[in-house]
Amino acid sequence: MNTATLEGRVAIVTGGHGGIGRAIVARLLREGARVAVFDLAASKEKSHDSVLRIHCDVTVPADVEMALASVREALGPVQILINNAGLLGPVTPVLEITIETWRRVTEVNLTGTFVCCKAVAIDMVQAGYGRIVNIASVQAKEGTELAGAYAASKAGVIALTKTLGKELATSGILVNCITPTAVDGGMIDEIADQRRTYILNRIPMKRFCSVNEVAAMVAWLAGDECSFSTAGVFDLSGGRSSY
Ligand SMILES: NC(=O)c1ccc[n+]([C@@H]2O[C@H](COP(=O)([O-])OP(=O)(O)OC[C@H]3O[C@@H](n4cnc5c(N)ncnc54)[C@H](O)[C@@H]3O)[C@@H](O)[C@H]2O)c1
Repeated sequence: MNTATLEGRVAIVTGGHGGIGRAIVARLLREGARVAVFDLAASKEKSHDSVLRIHCDVTVPADVEMALASVREALGPVQILINNAGLLGPVTPVLEITIETWRRVTEVNLTGTFVCCKAVAIDMVQAGYGRIVNIASVQAKEGTELAGAYAASKAGVIALTKTLGKELATSGILVNCITPTAVDGGMIDEIADQRRTYILNRIPMKRFCSVNEVAAMVAWLAGDECSFSTAGVFDLSGGRSSY
């Protein structure tokens, strides 16, 4: 069976150096896409594969424009954008979050998503085709104690997704987001065992999501089989999400 659903497509994965990002990159490559990674950590890694890795801060419009110009030159116009770069920030009550932390977390998670959507969607609008997938979190829907800035920023990602999806609904560009619960690998490795156990107990399937499960959903949302879903929010919660 031919599974190369993204043959000929050019995709950008922000935060593609991280745990989930790597799995998304691998999956998009497997589906036949040519992939560029925008990541603050990108220059630290020597590229051993066909991925174009660009050091880029997604919160800085000039950085994103420069990175995008490199992608256009090396790979051609972009059809797929996966906004995956993210920052958890310290696990702390809202009343103890510093303004610097609040700003940085919302800047990376929400403003970075906005900056990349704005830069990349221009080409997509001209071409009349595009797929944008934003990585939010189940915490955006629930609010989670000790992750106030993160949850609020991801709620903003959902609202941005719904708004942009509606605005571009007749343009050929579909904009969706996913709301995973805790995923094994990536930023969950930063948190203490006690908090991991607390999160695990809230998931009816009693396990964390895998990076490959995230990548599979992203790949579907990035392809042509996804054709009537836009401004949508897709759960990956092992039964945790109830709305
Ligand atoms: N791991 C989880 O449990 C989980 C659950 C739900 C959602 N998510 C979301 O999935 C995404 C990926 O998470 P992960 O677990 O792989 O995290 P990670 O920390 O392993 O990777 C995040 C990546 O984003 C990059 N990044 C951070 N700030 C950046 C910036 N300003 N510009 C460019 N790149 C930047 C980092 O260098 C890193 O490579 C995030 O948006 C996260 O919020 C993660």
